Amino acid sequence: MSLSPISVATLAAMKARGERIACLTCYDATFAGLLDAAGVDLLLVGDSLGMVLQGHRTTVPVTIDHMAYHAACVSRGRGRAILVVDLPFLACATPERALVSAGRLMQEGGAEVVKLEGGAPMLETVRRLTEQGVPVCAHLGLLPQSVHRIGGYRFQGRDHASAEAIRHDAIAMQEAGASLLVLECVPAALASEIAVTLTIPVIGIGAGAGCDGQVLVLHDMLGLNAGRVPSFSRNFMTGRESVAHALMSYVKSVKAGEFPGPDETPY
Ligand code: KIV
Repeated sequence: MSLSPISVATLAAMKARGERIACLTCYDATFAGLLDAAGVDLLLVGDSLGMVLQGHRTTVPVTIDHMAYHAACVSRGRGRAILVVDLPFLACATPERALVSAGRLMQEGGAEVVKLEGGAPMLETVRRLTEQGVPVCAHLGLLPQSVHRIGGYRFQGRDHASAEAIRHDAIAMQEAGASLLVLECVPAALASEIAVTLTIPVIGIGAGAGCDGQVLVLHDMLGLNAGRVPSFSRNFMTGRESVAHALMSYVKSVKAGEFPGPDETPY
């Protein structure tokens, strides 16, 4: 295994040779070191930190200051894993605002890729960011920042029109210059069809085993959430004696295509 830092080109090469990409959310330096040592390829400083760390009900209260702070913490603790950081609610409401926000995440936070939620309305922003040298991870399917508009955390793409929109947006995002795509809570058949169609890596969460990689919220997969754990997640601490073992088991299960299994694939 190569020990050189992982870049977007590395991830594209992994997809090309059929090697699955293991990703987890991460919010601090200690976990960044543990995840890296376990072989996690991609650390996502997700705005899920608003719920997991800050105790909010949604990701909406998370600010660009919060994201830059946690990204910098993770950046200091990691080794070779690539660092992807979320643009939080309204931080990319216009292309100009997105450029300023992405600049902060990269210069203050050490982000190597910025992730943004949304389809067609975000295409111009993706174009502008990539033109300026900012690698972008698009995020389609369930968009947690839009929870108040959607009316809850629901699976997306279950009817023909919504599946068609996701399919169309995925291709458009790649054409606009996105380097990665996260698909959240969409049917497994739709996700694997998109993964086969696109040349960029497709990372799934609640999207079945046919994606090029998987991501989970760290606290869910370590069984730290006393509240509701999503049906597509797995507690990797069960039967394991340490966090390090749980993380290694996650990486092994993703690479082997064993996670998510049928029980963790609701649609
Ligand atoms: O914020 C986050 O943690 C995310 C993942 C759930 C993909 O966007």
